[in-house]
Amino acid sequence: MTADSKLSLPKDFVWGYATASYQIEGAANEDGRGPSIWDTFCKIPGKIADGSSGDVACDAYHRTQEDVALLKSYGAKAYRFSISWSRVIPLGGRNDPVNPAGIKFYQDYVDELLANGITPFVTLFHWDLPQALHERYLGFLNKNEFASDFEHYARVCFEALPKVKNWITFNEPWCSAVLGYNVGAFAPGRTSDRSKSKEGDSTTEHLIVGHSILLGHARAVKAYRDDFKSQTGGQIGITLNGDWTEPWDPSDPLDIAACERKLEFAISWFADPIYFGDYPASMRTQYGSRLPTFTPEESALIKGSNDFYGMNHYTANYIKHRDTPPADDDVAGNLDMSFENKLGESIGPETQSVWLRPHPEGFRKLLIWLSERYGKPTIYVTENGTSVKDEHLRTGEERLRDELRCEYFRTYIEAMTKARCESGVDVRGYFAWSLMDNFEWAEGYVTRFGVTYTDYENGQKRTPKQSAYVVREMFDKLIEKE
Ligand code: NOJ
Repeated sequence: MTADSKLSLPKDFVWGYATASYQIEGAANEDGRGPSIWDTFCKIPGKIADGSSGDVACDAYHRTQEDVALLKSYGAKAYRFSISWSRVIPLGGRNDPVNPAGIKFYQDYVDELLANGITPFVTLFHWDLPQALHERYLGFLNKNEFASDFEHYARVCFEALPKVKNWITFNEPWCSAVLGYNVGAFAPGRTSDRSKSKEGDSTTEHLIVGHSILLGHARAVKAYRDDFKSQTGGQIGITLNGDWTEPWDPSDPLDIAACERKLEFAISWFADPIYFGDYPASMRTQYGSRLPTFTPEESALIKGSNDFYGMNHYTANYIKHRDTPPADDDVAGNLDMSFENKLGESIGPETQSVWLRPHPEGFRKLLIWLSERYGKPTIYVTENGTSVKDEHLRTGEERLRDELRCEYFRTYIEAMTKARCESGVDVRGYFAWSLMDNFEWAEGYVTRFGVTYTDYENGQKRTPKQSAYVVREMFDKLIEKE
């Protein structure tokens, strides 16, 4: 720690920005890329708020040098991006051809980053499943086919990108499972057919998806550890999302228990198998036999399959216990959550995304919760950021004065630093979401998360917002000097 400040981060603390392939690349039909489930989903009327798609997005596919220069100008030490599976293997499967142009694109990207002193953190899967695998065997719903194809794809990437030393298998599997297969708001838009919820396995789809992802993750990690890790000295982990929870009534033990249960249903669903070898008891209680079980071999494969914990974090919610039994397809764990003000108190100001109210104290608390539950794992915050309400309506200079985002980053980065300095949480890196405004999934281009303004009307021109300077100032101030 520096003499003049109590809060500081070590010299080797990694920080930078995060993005994802479908959200920024564009070039959807170029150089042999095959379609992903998001290309298909965007074509269904009504699925994307502004009727848009990632066809062009930020056109990042054609702007490698410009974007790396932007990162460098922001002082970023690292960059987290994802690989489009269907750019590398257009049909996705282990017996399908690899696309040399796709491989070359990512090799060049990595070289450009390294030449500029920026460390790549590469996500293998950020939601854009090759459409062909969905058509061939329903993707995640076929556990063994999916895990075999994912392991193969991961091996192709490890082999092609030996200079990458930081790998993330999956981004936010909760979203792929719940939003893609239960709520239906994300690709492929399945809703577990609620009308048939009593007739068998239809409401178990999200649980099967989660199970397949865990197996795919574990197989990719084993492949990496067996055949690549020793040559490259790299590390591999998974990125999980999770909001902090506050009890609706802090004096009600049932609300307090519901908060814990909510964290388990969101985070421990994936983290417990990875750190302990099985699902949390609360999920087994609610889902019974609908929650898949691990064979002893699978459990052994999954347990310990994280070199680090990738944490995506944005917000907190009030949680209220509910007495009525949960619906069959309830994924929340027998509780209510609320974005409302409680007794005149709010968890945080509104943003453009209804689910996202800033509450930095929740970030500090969740870092401590993760650290305690999972035995002090190394944590990289792989995403953190916010969307300013009505930012898309702003014009001129106003578009660059993103005060709420500036305040968000100041308070969240400080909260993280406190968790490290005061509570010993082993957090070693931080990636702000996002480098630039991009395709925000079902919200299209309306919701903006970037520290860079992307002008979609004028050739995707990038202009730094105030928050890009704030993030840099924070880390310049907090990271120890010589
Ligand atoms: C998490 C996701 O990983 C990312 O793709 C998304 O844009 C942000 N949250 C903001 O919603």
